[in-house]
Amino acid sequence: MPDKKTFYITTPIYYPSGNMHIGHTYTTVAADSMTRFKKMTGHDTYFLTGTDEHGQKIERKAEEKGVTPKQYVDEIVAETKKLWKLMDIEYDDFIRTTDERHEKVVQKIFKKFFDQGDIYKHEYEGQYCTPCESFWTPTQLKNGCCPDCGRPTELVREESYFFRMSKYQDWLIDYIETHPDFIQPASRANEMLNNFLRPGLQDLCVSRTSFKWGVPVDFDPDHVVYVWIDALSNYITAMGYGSDDESLFNKFWPADVHLVGKEIVRFHTIYWPIMLHALGLPLPKQVFGHGWLLFGGDKMSKSKGNIEYPQPIVARYGSDALRYYLMREMPFGADGNYTNEAMLTRVNADLANDLGNLVSRTVAMIEKYFDGVVPAWNENAVDEALDLPLRDHCAALPRLVEEQMDKLQFSQALVEIWKVIGECNKYIDATQPWVLGKDPEKKDRLGNVMFMLAECIRFVAVLIAPVMPRTPERIFKQLGVTDETLMSWEGLKEFGLLPAGTKVCKGEALFPRLDVKKELEALAAEKVPAAPAPAPEKKEEKKPEKKKEKKVEIPEGCVSIDEFFRCQLRVAKVISCERVPKSEKLLKFSLDLGTEQRTILSGIAKYYEPEYLVGKNLVIIANLPPRKMMGMESNGMILSAVETKEDGSEYLRVLTVDGDIAAGSEVG
Ligand code: ME8
Repeated sequence: MPDKKTFYITTPIYYPSGNMHIGHTYTTVAADSMTRFKKMTGHDTYFLTGTDEHGQKIERKAEEKGVTPKQYVDEIVAETKKLWKLMDIEYDDFIRTTDERHEKVVQKIFKKFFDQGDIYKHEYEGQYCTPCESFWTPTQLKNGCCPDCGRPTELVREESYFFRMSKYQDWLIDYIETHPDFIQPASRANEMLNNFLRPGLQDLCVSRTSFKWGVPVDFDPDHVVYVWIDALSNYITAMGYGSDDESLFNKFWPADVHLVGKEIVRFHTIYWPIMLHALGLPLPKQVFGHGWLLFGGDKMSKSKGNIEYPQPIVARYGSDALRYYLMREMPFGADGNYTNEAMLTRVNADLANDLGNLVSRTVAMIEKYFDGVVPAWNENAVDEALDLPLRDHCAALPRLVEEQMDKLQFSQALVEIWKVIGECNKYIDATQPWVLGKDPEKKDRLGNVMFMLAECIRFVAVLIAPVMPRTPERIFKQLGVTDETLMSWEGLKEFGLLPAGTKVCKGEALFPRLDVKKELEALAAEKVPAAPAPAPEKKEEKKPEKKKEKKVEIPEGCVSIDEFFRCQLRVAKVISCERVPKSEKLLKFSLDLGTEQRTILSGIAKYYEPEYLVGKNLVIIANLPPRKMMGMESNGMILSAVETKEDGSEYLRVLTVDGDIAAGSEVG
């Protein structure tokens, strides 16, 4: 058992946006799974989430509804908490930026920054986009309109307080360079350094006078604190920083991980560290920017209308199935497409088939051959070739899982567990218990097979608990395990602790096999949950909202812009490149896509020496189905320009990207 250590993890605080979709649950499910894992491995954990409730948009939405902003957000916050309960999210605290404990400390922080000269007042004149709540410089405007949403801007003169971000820029560059774990995945650190920090930071507008719904600046009542000082400080105000009781803060700060979506990495790795440094506080140990759940190749978001809600899925298949899918489907850090079909297919394959069948077959065989009692392990009936690899693999599993979890690689941790499940299923095929069962002399051998399977299932049940908190209990019930130590991390320190004589008990299938076609129809017919309030739009980091387009006829020979964007074009850095033996045409590339590595085979060997291409930033189509060539799998296509000469011969050059850009960047 490790020494008890502390572990403090946060999600971003959520905009109160009515019906939250599956994309929203991604960060909280990850944070909850991690907290449960750390708790299980002996840490004293603290998991914070909450809501980000101020700003002009909320003020307006409330006005439209004829309620006060507080009434408006109260209703949505209640729904948010219900959703977290439905998803089995067990947070330790839920901070609201309208909590008095938060507002008081935000005022103190603002004052401290002002007193020490980090914040100054300045009259600002600029082109302002009201829907996006953003100022733009004349050079940023596109055809005189907002570069984000395309709507006209207006000239606004406003007095604001500004934070001298530029003062801390060199310190932060040095910090990021000397703390390689601080921003993860590492590609996001390069993005911050190259795109924002090295070109030079602008001072940040931190107060507004054009609306009232915010934390008032107590020494200048015309102003309210604007967005980031208010929102980001939740991570410390919730812990009692600046209050009469700082014990929680002293115990848990600095946070171990801030989990955030990739679109807010900038705020968490530039503004937030600078604010903390200006307060004289240590920085969180890590900010991890996860990818997006895409839907039809686009970020799942309400404004785009491409959303799936968690409620119908949880109602039909349980929260564990959805949590498993979210954590398993895409590597943490990368984007991934969500479709109900992919989710159902995975639930069938991994949960109904691999795990569910293993448990039901094992319990059924123990009932059939041993009257439902787990037999004792017999050293004289060991088949070394079959038993020892599985036993050793399973005994090593807790360490393998911990290694992946410590890197926040949830999907890899699950892959490790499922490798053992797969091996157990193969072990059944190899040992053929139904043959052993016919021969009374093989009873001891059959007993070992049953013991091995039951013990492996116990390990699996303990290890899936952080991601699937409900399923282990059902497995332990079928296995007949009642001793709590055997259900814990401590009970995994040795393989073979399952006592002989344990009475198994056949139960319902853990995950009944689903008829994908029928389920898809049923899900499509589900109603969207009733909205407690219309969704306010996001603040300044919001991506351009697509205008509702009239359906336009696409002339023959043309593609629509939507069709074009279904192709995921990405920048891929060549890690290695070699000729494919026995092929005149093919080069084999190993490519870095920022969050993953992949292999692509390309028929361009005639035009290039492989070494020439190493280190280049190529452009690839990343979402083609895998294709086999010369017995190897190729995952995508490298784009090239092809010139056809007069004699009909061809000359080819690959597309490269100008300048230094992070591997994996989207092209479009
Ligand atoms: O950003 N896929 O709040 P938020 C994956 N209030 N994650 C997604 C997602 C998707 N399709 N859609 C949303 C905010 N999320 C600010 C934060 S923190 C001081 C202030 C994730 O409600 C998103 O990436 O827009 C973020 O991590 C979380 O949901 C909350 O997003």
